[in-house]
Amino acid sequence: MICAIFATDESGNFGFNNGLPWDKSKGDLSFFKKQTIGGIIVMGANTFRSLNGFLPNRRHVVLTSDEDIHAMSTTHSNLEVFYDIDQMIESIGNNFWVIGGPSLLYEIGDKLQYDVVFHTVIEGTYDGDTKLDHQRIVKYLTHVHYRGRDGKTVHKYINEYKF
Ligand SMILES: NC(=O)c1ccc[n+]([C@@H]2O[C@H](COP(=O)([O-])OP(=O)(O)OC[C@H]3O[C@@H](n4cnc5c(N)ncnc54)[C@H](OP(=O)(O)O)[C@@H]3O)[C@@H](O)[C@H]2O)c1
Repeated sequence: MICAIFATDESGNFGFNNGLPWDKSKGDLSFFKKQTIGGIIVMGANTFRSLNGFLPNRRHVVLTSDEDIHAMSTTHSNLEVFYDIDQMIESIGNNFWVIGGPSLLYEIGDKLQYDVVFHTVIEGTYDGDTKLDHQRIVKYLTHVHYRGRDGKTVHKYINEYKF
């Protein structure tokens, strides 16, 4: 299955200073972990840099032209790096989670379609420098979760949330 999982605030902010716009405690990291554990996570170069290492028990697949990241894959067995999506698909097959950034989410959706897309909306608006264009992803959404300011309350919608 080709799946995507990501979060934004209420105005579509997706990233800030190569991290998340909101405090981690408000986010949905345990939900993200539960869904992706044991699987393959596909990401762009900046998202990989933002991890500052590796998430346990997941294969990391990175799309980039950055030769330093390509070189890292020779010494890390949980890292595979590709120059383009076609090359990636040929190598890893079609069972993975796309986690960001936004342009990669649109590109893989437009090229391959998604089976499952989880979008968590974090209550509130935060500083951001990377935004998700809701129009470009809404057609693929299968699950939208709205996480309250306390970080715990979750409401579930299917394709109903609009910015
Ligand atoms: N809210 C969330 O759920 C979430 C999830 C993940 C990340 N983030 C945040 O989002 C921000 C990073 O996002 P970003 O927009 O900068 O994007 P990104 O996709 O992580 O990185 C962009 C780079 O990835 C490479 N890339 C992307 N698509 C490619 C493709 N199809 N083929 C080859 N290379 C490709 C390119 O690298 P080269 O230029 O090196 O070729 C491109 O410059 C960070 O702040 C991060 O913390 C948030």
